[in-house]
Amino acid sequence: MVEMKNQKPKIINVQCVSCDAKYDIEPFRYQCDCGENLDIIYDYASISQKWTKQDLAKNPDRSHWRYLPILPVKNAPKRTMQIGGTPLIPFAKIAEEFGVSEFFVKDDTRNPSGSLKDRATDIGIQHATEMGENTIVAASTGNAAASLSALSAFYGKNAIILAPASAPKAKLTQILQYGATLFPVNGTYDDAFALSMKISEKYGFYSRSTGINPILSEGKKTVGLEIAEQLNWNVPDLIFVPTGDGCIIGGVYKSFWDLKKLGWIDKMPKLVAVQSEGSCASVNALKNDGKIEPVSSNTIADSISVDNPADGTKALRAVKNSDGFGITVSDDEILTAQKELSEKTGIFTEPAAASSFAGFKKATESRKIEKNETVVILATGTGLKDIPAAQKKIEIPEAIDSIENLNL
Ligand SMILES: Cc1ncc(COP(=O)(O)O)c(C=O)c1O
Ligand SMILES: [Zn+2]
Repeated sequence: MVEMKNQKPKIINVQCVSCDAKYDIEPFRYQCDCGENLDIIYDYASISQKWTKQDLAKNPDRSHWRYLPILPVKNAPKRTMQIGGTPLIPFAKIAEEFGVSEFFVKDDTRNPSGSLKDRATDIGIQHATEMGENTIVAASTGNAAASLSALSAFYGKNAIILAPASAPKAKLTQILQYGATLFPVNGTYDDAFALSMKISEKYGFYSRSTGINPILSEGKKTVGLEIAEQLNWNVPDLIFVPTGDGCIIGGVYKSFWDLKKLGWIDKMPKLVAVQSEGSCASVNALKNDGKIEPVSSNTIADSISVDNPADGTKALRAVKNSDGFGITVSDDEILTAQKELSEKTGIFTEPAAASSFAGFKKATESRKIEKNETVVILATGTGLKDIPAAQKKIEIPEAIDSIENLNL
C-alpha cells in the first residue's frame, strides 16, 4: 500500500456546493450553515507530487483502499471485507446491437452486501472510527442499510437503521440477519431520513445518511476512480447512473473532477442521471429552471424512489458540468431492461440498478449517443434482494415427471 506520510494535510478544506462557504475538515461538520451539502477539497498539487499513476499500478491492493491518498480518512483499516475492485466488463455484442463503439457494465452487485453502497459505508465507518464513534445511524431505501449492517458486523460497530416498512423483505431480512437494530418506518424513505436525522441529533450518533454526509459521496466516488483506471485513464464518453438521492452520480462526478485536478485525465465523461418516471424530481429540475420540486414517488425501483433528493444539488451539478443529460424510464421499461440485461450479460440486477440499462436503450433510440462513443452503465445492486420484482417478467414452468413431450 502506498504510504502518504502525514495524511491530515491532504485535505485543504470542505466547501459548500451552493454558497461556496469554506470550512476546515476538523471539527467535522455534515453540512454548510446554509443547509446545503459539502465537497471535500484535497491538496491536489501536493498529492500528485507524492502519488503517481505508476505508484497506483504497483499497488497490489485490489480493493478501493488503493485510492487512500484521495480519500477523506487518515488510514485504511487493518483488515477489510474487500470492497470495490469490481469488474468493468465489455459486451461487444451489446455495443454492436445498440450502435455504440464500446459498451461496459461496471458490476457493483459483487460487493459483499450486494450493492455499490458498500463503498460509502466502508469509508464512512473508517471515518467514524477515526472520530472515536461506535454507533452509526442510517436512513435508507434498503441497500445502504443492508450495507451498514453487514459492515458494522464486520468492524464491530452498532448500527441503527430506519427504512420504509415497504422495502423489499429480503433487504429488511438482510439488515436483521447481520444483527443491526431496525426501525421500519410507516412512511416513505424521506420520512425515514427525517427520523434518522432526529436520532443522530438527539443521541449524537454518527450519521451514515446518504445525501448529507460528504464522506459518503467520497466513498461512492471510488467507483468512478476504478472505471478510469480500468480503462487505462481513457475516460468513457458516457456513464449511465441510476439516480435517487443523487449521491452516487455526485460521487461519480467528483471522481473525475478529482482526477482532472490531479492531472491524470483531461476530460469528463458525460454523466446521465436515469430516474424512474414515478420518481424523477432531479430530471424534472434539469428540464425546468433547475429548482428541485419534490414529487410523490411511486415506482417498482424502490432504491431510487425518493420524493425530495437529499443530494439533488450535487446530482444536477454532475449532469450540467459534465455536459450530460437526465432521462426517465417507465417501470415497464425498467423490468424489461432488467430481464434483457440478465439474459445478455449474466448479471442479475435489481430494478433500480437496471434503470441504467433502460436509460441507455432509450437514449440510443432518441439518438442522444454518437456511434463512436464508449458507454459504461452502473449495475448498482443485485436482483437477488427483490425476487418478486423479477418474477413480474418470469413464469416458473410446471413441474415434470418425465422427459417425454419436452419442447426442446
Ligand atoms: C441499487 C441502487 N441503485 C441506485 C441508487 C441511487 O443512489 P442515490 O440515492 O445516491 O442516487 C441506490 C440508492 O439506494 C441503490 O441502492
Ligand atoms: Zn452553503
